[in-house]
Amino acid sequence: MKTFTNVKAHQSVWNDNYGTIAIKSAAIPMSYPLLLILHLFAAIMFVGTVFFEVIMLEGVRKHVPKEVMRSMEGAIGRRARAIMPWVLLLLFGAGLGLSWFHRGALSMPLESGFGLLLTIKILLALSVFGHFITAMVMHRLGNLRSRASQRIHISVFIHVVLIVLLAKLMFYIG
Ligand code: HEM
Repeated sequence: MKTFTNVKAHQSVWNDNYGTIAIKSAAIPMSYPLLLILHLFAAIMFVGTVFFEVIMLEGVRKHVPKEVMRSMEGAIGRRARAIMPWVLLLLFGAGLGLSWFHRGALSMPLESGFGLLLTIKILLALSVFGHFITAMVMHRLGNLRSRASQRIHISVFIHVVLIVLLAKLMFYIG
């Protein structure tokens, strides 16, 4: 008889009469791969935008006239403020859905490397959300000057690099 067991917090395997078989798509609820794909696409959109703003835009600043740069930043900012809230909604919504499947590991973060790294990843993601809210509020109040915006971007960039590293490492550290 086949049984669905959660061997480790993150490992779902089929256990049948012949022994243990590695992960099979049939063994995990359909919603998991769906949430994972949504989470991954949203992460690509978010991390890609941050990468573009920090590495590409900052890299061309000294080669472009100030006025041109200012109007480009204004236009990119308006576009980002229209799209990013939806991307973040998808990213965090799907992330929450995925975390529900790992609630066992998350309820005891010190019991496994996976639980600990996933917890740190989520805390970093919450900090990213805090940066986003801060930037939105500062913009509304008219306080988001170029220097502050640059600092927020660099901090978010460091956060997302760590988040992606943790998202992959957590599966290899017991
Ligand atoms: C800035 C925000 C975030 C980024 C950039 C991000 C990025 C990622 C990436 C790249 C993966 C690996 C996906 C894969 O292996 O295909 C991942 C996995 C995961 N993320 Fe996030 N994430 C973010 C926020 C969150 C939040 C807020 C939560 C939970 C509340 C969350 C929960 C998870 C979980 C549980 C996984 C493991 C899914 C799996 O591979 O089976 N993430 N994340």
